[in-house]
Amino acid sequence: MADKTIALKDTDAKSADPTLNVSKDKDVDVLVKFQDVSLTYHDKSGETLAISNLDFEVRRGELLGIVGPSGCGKTTVLSIISSIIKPSGGKVSVDKAEAEERRDKCGYMLQRDELFPWLTISQNVLLGTKIKKMKGRREYAYALLDKYGLGDFKNRYPSQLSGGMRQRVALIRTLATAPELLLLDEPFGALDFQTRLHVVEDVHSIIKSEKKTAVFVTHDISEAISMCDRIIILTARPATVKKVVDLTPIKELKPLDRRESPLFQKYFEDIWKNLQNKRG
Ligand SMILES: Nc1ncnc2c1ncn2[C@@H]1O[C@H](COP(=O)(O)OP(=O)(O)OP(=O)(O)O)[C@@H](O)[C@H]1O
Ligand SMILES: [Mg+2]
Repeated sequence: MADKTIALKDTDAKSADPTLNVSKDKDVDVLVKFQDVSLTYHDKSGETLAISNLDFEVRRGELLGIVGPSGCGKTTVLSIISSIIKPSGGKVSVDKAEAEERRDKCGYMLQRDELFPWLTISQNVLLGTKIKKMKGRREYAYALLDKYGLGDFKNRYPSQLSGGMRQRVALIRTLATAPELLLLDEPFGALDFQTRLHVVEDVHSIIKSEKKTAVFVTHDISEAISMCDRIIILTARPATVKKVVDLTPIKELKPLDRRESPLFQKYFEDIWKNLQNKRG
């Protein structure tokens, strides 16, 4: 009898298993859900099946990494989440919202910081809130600039800041519009290695202390392991889920400290191996 209780508990624990791309536990708070999603691009040269049978979820509050071979469909996945493009098949929901409302729930951060050089830092940071006609966001945006070491640079121009500082500004600009979900598409690609290490530390700390949910696309395995709570490995195009890696054992460590962890190399080898293998 006692054994049966234990067995039941085990089953419950397994259904919330972080290594599953789709949880079986109804209590898991799912923000984004992809169900059997496919996307075919049509252009002059023909059709490209970018993703197929893609099932995964982003749980509220987590920092989910997506890694996969170049051209496998990572950016396409982010574009579908934010409803910039519509899937050819399957179902996508973000906080149960229909496609029209999804765009407002998402904040994008790209490889280039995309700050406008002719606007000051404070004007850049408030731009998104102006476009969206959001009121009362100035204080929050300024508080973020102060909190993350940019308070003295409000009236400077992007060219007067380092690459790392500009990426922090870009993230704060994204946060200023209060998105439910941050979509980060290789946001550190334009930075040199040393700067990247520090910006990863900063961005991770900002996302966690602001309690945001984020999807982080990268082709840098080490960066994914240092930033994320879970990592989804995609197959070569058409993208489908190859494996989900759970980083719970190192989740509480800061990015630089994770690199010192003995588990870091194990995760690296696992992800590397899965990226080399063909589909299946
Ligand atoms: N607008 C488009 N029209 C036609 N094909 C496209 C379009 N955008 C992307 N593709 C194709 O879809 C596939 C997936 O592209 P996507 O940009 O999503 O890949 P990715 O994983 O983000 O690549 P990378 O690692 O290089 O950033 C690629 O084969 C690409 O050529
Ligand atoms: Mg891409």
